[in-house]
Amino acid sequence: MKPTQAVCFYDASPDASDLRREVLAGLSAKPKAIPPKFFYDQRGSELFDAICQLPEYYQTRTEMGILRRCVNELAEHIGPECLVVELGSGASKKVRLLLSELRPSGYLGIDISKEFLLASTHRLANDYPWLEVHAACIDFSHHLDVPRCEAFGPRLAFFPGSSIGNFEPGEAVRLLSRVAELVGPQGHLLIGVDLKKDIRLLNAAYNDAKGITAAFNRNLLQRIQSELDSDFDAASFEHYAFFNPIEGRIEMHLVSSRAQSIRIEDRLFEFHAGETIHTENSYKYTIAEFGRLAQQAGFAQDVVWTDPARMFSVQLLRAL
Ligand code: AVI
Repeated sequence: MKPTQAVCFYDASPDASDLRREVLAGLSAKPKAIPPKFFYDQRGSELFDAICQLPEYYQTRTEMGILRRCVNELAEHIGPECLVVELGSGASKKVRLLLSELRPSGYLGIDISKEFLLASTHRLANDYPWLEVHAACIDFSHHLDVPRCEAFGPRLAFFPGSSIGNFEPGEAVRLLSRVAELVGPQGHLLIGVDLKKDIRLLNAAYNDAKGITAAFNRNLLQRIQSELDSDFDAASFEHYAFFNPIEGRIEMHLVSSRAQSIRIEDRLFEFHAGETIHTENSYKYTIAEFGRLAQQAGFAQDVVWTDPARMFSVQLLRAL
């Protein structure tokens, strides 16, 4: 049997009380909303992985193509022996495109989904035995208190997949400011940012023909049903996603198909027919808009790589 490489694991995983508190608060708000971070239980992470392979979801394959093309130039900027800190590491697939060229000495994967994080970092440690692998299960939308990993060289944070788009612009600035602090002056952040484009392409990406995005959205209700004491019919909510050009974002909602009252724990929530739970925003930026956001967080936009059709960008930011 092949020996399993060790992964240093730091566990500050959010528990059911976070879900309970944020779901009850979100459904008491007007309009009703639940934060998108709760999509990612085991099944949600698997569904997201399936989304990434859909023909309509151009983001993953486009970003991976850019990463393959930019890795040599990236390695020249960063140098060897760095510590790569990946935010929202998920299946840790994209970082594999960087490791052989970049030759970091350490990797720290950060994710909110514990089982998924453990499985993917163990696979990474086995496949790259020369790499020291660490994993931290934390909710990085709240804090970035992770093991210091002082022993390594310069720091490169890696935040692919345009997950930054799931934060409100003000929150995005706060998160990136924490990343700037984590990497330190002259440290770097390599970030995937989805770009503004033809609305039809955007709408198709969040309304795929196989209904995987709809299942991903509705899994949030199934998660509430299995983890909280509740009584409602998840099938009475429908997936609804559209690009809002005024806000510059895709909005995802779950729409109640009828008037109903649902119980979660000891609370009742009234819905009128057509009322929605807002489950996600996915902001799209121009390169200049994102440069301004990065600047507010203390980063300079050093290099921007895109695909030929300028659908997506991978940006190398430097902490000032
Ligand atoms: C993780 N995040 C960048 C995805 C997005 O596109 O905003 C989540 C997603 N939601 C629906 N499809 C994919």
